[in-house]
Amino acid sequence: MATKPHDISPDTTPGEFWDNFYGAEDRVWSGRPNAALVREAAGLTPGHALDLGCGEGADAIWLARQGWRVTAVDVSQVALDRGAGHAASEGVGDRVEWQPHDLSVSFPAGTFDLVSTHFLHSWLELPRERILRSAAAAVAPGGVLLITGHAGFPSWVTDPDPDVHFPTPEEVLTGLDLADGEWDVLVSGVHEEKVTDPEGNPATRTDNTVEVRRR
Ligand SMILES: C[S@@+](CC[C@H](N)C(=O)[O-])C[C@H]1O[C@@H](n2cnc3c(N)ncnc32)[C@H](O)[C@@H]1O
Repeated sequence: MATKPHDISPDTTPGEFWDNFYGAEDRVWSGRPNAALVREAAGLTPGHALDLGCGEGADAIWLARQGWRVTAVDVSQVALDRGAGHAASEGVGDRVEWQPHDLSVSFPAGTFDLVSTHFLHSWLELPRERILRSAAAAVAPGGVLLITGHAGFPSWVTDPDPDVHFPTPEEVLTGLDLADGEWDVLVSGVHEEKVTDPEGNPATRTDNTVEVRRR
């Protein structure tokens, strides 16, 4: 996700772009759930979760293994099919529903006990703030919204694009436009994660997490 591809045609749709991205390799991500999800969701009572921009489904599968029913959403059918295959081979295929949505156009129906979205970033135009407001609207009373995003470029990027702005946790919270008195802020902060660079060497990445609970 670090370096912008140079050859994106202006006509490329998000579905085409992300299908090509995932189709280029048998597996793009590690298959491990995101650390912030494990940290923040481990203590929640399982119910129905929504994972927005689920990619190859590692988070959705982890949630399913913790006892959640999961609706997992992505614009890439290639990624969704891959996630469904992994879920079936891990014995949780019946606990995850994989829904294709271009979230700039449509949003899954229903309300959820946990709405979780990790690294919903794109090199194509993405109305992230609007999507995150829809995510908040989809949280059931007592439910939690968990958002993790990049707070900067990873340590191995030597020529960061100066035009890229990574929203701070405060900006994410402001963008959610939550109704006064209806939400508690559980987490709002920046944290460093230990990761590996594309060559497999130890590296760091700075992420931000916002977690809010609807009263
Ligand atoms: C950086 S990846 C993160 C994937 C996964 N959440 C993870 O942490 O491994 C961003 C994901 O957002 C999805 N995405 C990008 N634009 C989207 C859109 N308009 N609608 C739905 N999903 C989108 C991509 O297909 C991709 O799987």
